[in-house]
Amino acid sequence: MEGIRVLLVDDEEHLARSIGNWFTSKGCKVHTVFDLEKALSTLEALPELDLLITDVYLQSGRPTPGGQILAEYCAENRPNLPVILLTGKPSLDLAIAGIRSHAFDFLTKPVHLPVLWRRAQKAVTEMRLRARLSELERDNSLLSAILPNAIEAKDPTTRGHSDRVVRYADTLAIKSGVGEEERRDLRLAAQLHDVGKIGIPESILTKPGKLNQEERLVIQQHPEIGFKIIEPLKDFPRVRDWVYQHHERWDGRGYPQGLKGEEVALPGRILILAEVFDALATTRSYKKPWSPEKIADFFEQEAGHHFDPDLGKIVAEGVRSRGAAFFQEFSSETEQAGGQTFLFPAL
Ligand SMILES: [Fe+2]
Repeated sequence: MEGIRVLLVDDEEHLARSIGNWFTSKGCKVHTVFDLEKALSTLEALPELDLLITDVYLQSGRPTPGGQILAEYCAENRPNLPVILLTGKPSLDLAIAGIRSHAFDFLTKPVHLPVLWRRAQKAVTEMRLRARLSELERDNSLLSAILPNAIEAKDPTTRGHSDRVVRYADTLAIKSGVGEEERRDLRLAAQLHDVGKIGIPESILTKPGKLNQEERLVIQQHPEIGFKIIEPLKDFPRVRDWVYQHHERWDGRGYPQGLKGEEVALPGRILILAEVFDALATTRSYKKPWSPEKIADFFEQEAGHHFDPDLGKIVAEGVRSRGAAFFQEFSSETEQAGGQTFLFPAL
């Protein structure tokens, strides 16, 4: 943690200096100021800070304590700068104010320097991880929006397929009680599930009518090709797994691995259903869209065969009673999470 750049603000000069000396002895670069105005101007002048430690009860000439003003300023203008609040007058109100102003941590005086140092390290490490994750998520959002367009350029009959599968999969995930983190990964997997089709010849992808055995074997390579294409998503191993498994079946007769039952995790099983539903409900080069009744019959028959039995029944019953509206129940919530970039809700 050497080289951490710290802004330290306290109007108790002796305390500020002893904290400053401790952090300097640990290899940090410390800027110490003793009032609110100087702290605000230092924040504006130093864009590269890693941590702000401030006393809460700084004189501010305003009803709000100076430390809280600084924390609120950082929440709005420097969201990646963690703030640790210090106070000699702990109270519930103050703790609540600290939380509201998005302070990272809150310590009472007298400050035990080794404790403050540990909390400071934790704050800086965690904030750096969050920033790194945001960067990754931004990159991934861009890629995951671009790659499906590349598939659609090869096979225009699948236009909008990935976006719809994201919506269907997320709706089923909500209905099945899947947690927020897994839903996020599932939405990314749904967006990318067919990316391997980039490696399949257009003549096979867009062939009207049935494929022969040889062509079927070629197209069945797309989950594995997709798995390789998204290899750089090392931080999202589940996403890669679900892309790889999106043509597996509950009864083990799918491909590429012939996985059975719960060998594919619940979100992966949801993706399998969502992708088949969209294939049945839309026009393809080899077929017309199926009616909701025909789709419901299919899911009922295939529950426990092609599909997870519970999920198959949920879709069969939902589509039979509500048609395509079954998948629209939660779609506004999914879309509110950010339209084309909804794959990653803000941290
Ligand atoms: Fe596929």
